[in-house]
Amino acid sequence: MSNLPLDRLVPSHIRLFEPYYPSLPDRELMRLYRLDHLHRLNNNENALGPPPAVSEMLEKVEAGVFPVYPGGDSRELRQALADKHGKTPEQFLVGNGSCELISSVVKAFCEAGDNIVTADQTFAVYEWVAEFSGLDARLIPLKAYAFDPEAMLAAVDGRTKIIFVCNPNNPTGTYWSRDVLCRFLDRVGGQQIVVLDEAYFEYVERDDYPDGMRLLERYPNLIVFRTFSKMYALAALRVGMLCASEELVDIVRRAHVAYSVNTLGQLAALEAIRDDADFVARTRAMVARAKGMLSELFADMGLESLAGEGNYVMVKTPMSDTLLHRKLLRQGLMVRTMTGFRFPNWIRISLVQEPVMREFCTAFRQLLDTR
Ligand SMILES: Cc1ncc(COP(=O)(O)O)c(C=O)c1O
Repeated sequence: MSNLPLDRLVPSHIRLFEPYYPSLPDRELMRLYRLDHLHRLNNNENALGPPPAVSEMLEKVEAGVFPVYPGGDSRELRQALADKHGKTPEQFLVGNGSCELISSVVKAFCEAGDNIVTADQTFAVYEWVAEFSGLDARLIPLKAYAFDPEAMLAAVDGRTKIIFVCNPNNPTGTYWSRDVLCRFLDRVGGQQIVVLDEAYFEYVERDDYPDGMRLLERYPNLIVFRTFSKMYALAALRVGMLCASEELVDIVRRAHVAYSVNTLGQLAALEAIRDDADFVARTRAMVARAKGMLSELFADMGLESLAGEGNYVMVKTPMSDTLLHRKLLRQGLMVRTMTGFRFPNWIRISLVQEPVMREFCTAFRQLLDTR
């Protein structure tokens, strides 16, 4: 132990914050568990890999681009996003994954004594960023596994700066319809920033699912998040974006690190949205098949499960989730334990190709079926 005066140097909210430990690298896990394959069903990645045009483009990238800093504000990508969504480039901010943008938004709007409102069983980064920034995160229980608009509104006070809504929710797959969302935004009445995280937007095929981008003119306090990590399979390159009014983007940009999005990420994202209809359709078909298989398995085993929107499902298991995780890992199947996300003994499974899902179903049944 050093003699550093950490009591004085480290704020109490950092001392008390419990760090998140990501899983070991795949190669390390495969060595530890003596595996010849590992199926990643833990992070809601798109197992099909990026659209073919992206892979082709990346193979042709020359080493000459590496010594040069990336475009500091992702100008070309913002222009392409503006063209695609009928907005101006100034309405977009691109980040090193949408996780970085969560941080930028919190930095831009919150100061000591402020709070944010979100759900207690949702994507944890909203809560984490608030807490390690010394802010109160008001975590409102889900109602029937969905964000509860009334309870969230009741939690808002004069120090609430941001309300985070995950639509559809990771991990429950529930979503707010256009009506529910608009009623909520009407009630907020522009008094708080509302972040609508649409990380799984491209997976949702419901008629009443709202496109946040279409609501920006009506609600100037709205910020919509999207990511290239999920549908477009670019998680390793870390590209996320937000879209809002030019006025709000100009504010968030002040708290955002320029040059944080690397050149390959910008090039790949540009390519990914160029002609994506076939790719999105193929991915959706894969996810729908997998969702059907898993729902059927869990129903057959009499287990409670949640198979809503997004490329993931959850199931409550009669075994401890950490033990089940280890047992599945021994068979080369890595799922997400959910106890840490306030779902004791649930696991979340990403939806991928049929042969892998079949492998999962066989292993899961063998481990848990007592009949
Ligand atoms: C709801 C939600 N928002 C944001 C993210 C983060 O995405 P990114 O890779 O763009 O940081 C995730 C990743 O799992 C997510 O599930």
